[in-house]
Order: sequence, then structure tokens, then C-alpha cells
Amino acid sequence: MIPRSLPPAASAALGRRHLGVPASAEKLLLPFVSVCFVSVILVLSAISGLAASSAFFARCPSPADVHRGAAHLPAFAYYIVGGRGDVRRVLRLLLAVYHPRNRYLLHLSADAPESERSDLAARVWLTIPAARAFGNVDVVGKAGAMTPMGSSGLAATLHAASALLRLDDGWDWFVTLNAADYPLITQDDLIYVFSDVPRNLSFMDHTSDLGWKEEQRVQPIIVDAGIYLAKRKNYFQASDNRDTPESFKFFTGSPWVILSRSFVEYCILGWDNLPRTLLLYFTNVILSEESYFHSLICNSADFQNTTVNNDLRYMVWDDPPGIEPHLLNTTDYAEMIKSGVPFARQFRHGDAVLDKIDSTILKRRNNKAVPGAWCSAKKWWMDPCSQWGNADIVKPGPRAKEFARLMQKLLNDWKSESNSCLS
Ligand SMILES: *[C@@H]1O[C@H](CO)[C@@H](O)[C@H](O)[C@H]1NC(C)=O
Ligand SMILES: *[C@@H]1O[C@H](CO)[C@@H](O)[C@H](O)[C@H]1NC(C)=O
Ligand SMILES: *[C@@H]1O[C@H](CO)[C@@H](O)[C@H](O)[C@H]1NC(C)=O
Repeated sequence: MIPRSLPPAASAALGRRHLGVPASAEKLLLPFVSVCFVSVILVLSAISGLAASSAFFARCPSPADVHRGAAHLPAFAYYIVGGRGDVRRVLRLLLAVYHPRNRYLLHLSADAPESERSDLAARVWLTIPAARAFGNVDVVGKAGAMTPMGSSGLAATLHAASALLRLDDGWDWFVTLNAADYPLITQDDLIYVFSDVPRNLSFMDHTSDLGWKEEQRVQPIIVDAGIYLAKRKNYFQASDNRDTPESFKFFTGSPWVILSRSFVEYCILGWDNLPRTLLLYFTNVILSEESYFHSLICNSADFQNTTVNNDLRYMVWDDPPGIEPHLLNTTDYAEMIKSGVPFARQFRHGDAVLDKIDSTILKRRNNKAVPGAWCSAKKWWMDPCSQWGNADIVKPGPRAKEFARLMQKLLNDWKSESNSCLS
């Protein structure tokens, strides 16, 4: 596939700036326009002496270098979202979860200026040599709105899932992360533990016990202005409420999910009508990302048995809960580590606890990727991940044990219940 070998900086920055076609960067996600991209890059590099194309030919490894699929170690597709001013946070998070086996799609929402998007692409290109060579990081060129309470965020997530399906046929799980999130284990640990997990399982926190949410989150009818008005980031609420649905059972939970590839295909490819009819309903639901995937998976006979009722995130909620969990800091460190979960949310930009996670758990140096078993540069002054070897090998660290224990417990619960959607 051609998009895979496009340098990310070129795909985001060149696309918008130099092609006169609207939405050109967006189309980097579609194979037929990517072909145009390659020729445009060639022409541009001939004219302006860009280094992009020579790097592209010289360093592109053969896809056969990384083995993925059912018989091999799993791979993840990360969708990382941020807003205005989040370039550094998104880059830091990317460095903390980077692995050549995985695929990454970065999205700065429409409130961020165009310059931040090309800045992000350029920084990825400069900071992660492996991302240049493996071509596994893309930046969404034409950003969508992300109204805090509205459905434009769900639209962006579905768009990302669809793009990731098209860009890459090798990943097993779709993981949503936000610029305020951070991992608590290395990718080597994550891949190692997930290698024992059936690939058709999805991880999401859900319940049909709606409680206070029924009146405040289920019944109000809203319209997200970000979907049809340029430069708007609010929503309108109808004066009337509607009844809680009867034709399907409403589930709600945490908006942060890890979805199996088969479930993502079910959502996107639409051979069944349920994903579409629910989407039409959820367009007017407040905070639809807390409920769409949850209601869909639990109302689908084919997928309800594949749901593990846990989102694998460490979050601490205030009482009564706000829209977002509270900001984690060094006081939370010990509890956070004890939990064994792979991700935590949410952190203040540059909080000291992130440095502690970097130095203690991830062994990550400033502005460098986490040194996994794939990194092979040995000289002490070099970034270990500036050279690489076999990306089919992972070396689990001490944290993998705790996560494996948690996963075993979750899988046992899942086996004994088999259908978490009944509760
Ligand atoms: C899901 O599990 C239930 C038992 O809990 C079983 O009756 C049903 O056939 C399973 N569905 C699928 C698609 O495996
Ligand atoms: C999930 O995949 C396993 C094989 O890995 C299969 O045996 C099982 O039936 C699948 N479960 C469902 C509910 O589709
Ligand atoms: C962490 O946050 C809590 C409140 O959320 C606060 O009480 C505590 O003092 C903070 N700890 C540090 C080290 O800043």
C-alpha cells in the first residue's frame, strides 16, 4: 500500500499547502489520491530540492520486515486526539506509545490552526526516525470539529477508525487516546500481555443501569452545531426531552475504548443496519461517545459475547462525578501503579508525575521513544531507537506481570459471565 510509505510530514504538510484541491490532505487516507501524492512529492522535490523523496526511497523497509496477523504478535491502531495548543502533549504521548508494529493516526481538532497540524507532522518526522522509515504515523489533514458535548467527536472517531481500516490491514485493536492520557506500561508489555487475549474481544466500560444519567444524558435532545456550521463549537438543546429508547437497550460508560478489529469492521462497513440506525439516533444524544459503541456492541447478537467490561484506564472520579476525571499527580502514583492497568487519564500538561512515569516505568528519555526490544543502537550517546532490528520480538518488563494478572482476572470474569451486557 502506498500510503504506508509516505513520510508523515509530507502527507500532512505538503498535502494542504501545495495542492490546490480542497480536502487534499484528507485524501491521503484514500489510496487513489495517495498515488497523486507520490507524484506531487516527486515533482515538488525535483523543483525545490526536498529531501523527502530520497529519504522515502532509501529508508522504506519492506513490509515483510514486520510480521502481523493471527499467527503473530498483536498490533494496535492508536487514534490520538488533541485540540488547540496540544502539539507537544500529543507528540509526548506518541513517543510514549510508539512501536513499529502499531499504526498511529493523530487528530488536532478544527479549533487548532493549520500551522499546528503541520508543526505536529514536522516534529513527528524529525523526532522519530522509525516513524519515517516504517511510515506508520499519519496526521489528519482536514480536521473535524470536536464539540465537547456533541456528536462531532463520535463522527471524528468513526472517521479515524475507517481511515485506519483502509490504511493498514495488520492491526488487531483500535485504541482511543486523548492528549491528556498517558501509558503506565511499555508497548512491549502491552503487546506481550495482549498476545494471550482472543483477538475478537473489545474492552469497554459499560452499564445499562443509567441512574442519574437517564434524565441528564439520555433523554435530552441536542444538536451539535460543529457538524453543520463552520467555526462553531457549541450545541443547542431542544426544550423537550424524549423517552428512553425501547427498540434497543441503552448502555453507557467510559468514552475511552479498545475495540477489536472485527467490531470496528462491523461499525464501519455496515453490512448490518444496526450500526447506522443507532448512529442516527445518537447524533442527538448528549456525550454520544459515552454510549454509542456501548449500546451497539451490547445490542448486537454477534458481538455482545465479545465484550470485556473494563476500559483498562486508571481514572479517579470526584464525588459527584464531573464531566472529566480529576487531574492525576504524584500523590496518585502509587495507587496508579498498583492498579496494573495500561493507561491513565487525565494529566496536566508537563506534570511531574509524567516525568516519574518516564524515568521509572518507561525508561524514556526526553524527546525520545520508549526503548523497546526493537531498538538496537548500542552506543551510549545514541538514542537507542535511532536504529532498529527485529520488531517481531518484545521483551516484557516487570510491569507486564501486574498487567497480566489483571488481564487474567478480566478474562476469567468474561468467561464465567460470557455476556457482560446482561448486567
Ligand atoms: C453468547 O452467549 C450466550 C450464552 O451466554 C449464548 O447462548 C449465545 O449463543 C452466544 N452468542 C454467540 C454469537 O456466540
Ligand atoms: C472469538 O474468537 C475465537 C477464536 O479465537 C472463537 O473460538 C470464538 O467463538 C469467537 N467468539 C465470538 C463470540 O465470536
Ligand atoms: C494532587 O492533587 C490533590 C487533589 O486532587 C491534592 O490534594 C494534592 O496535594 C496534589 N499533590 C501534589 C503533590 O501536588
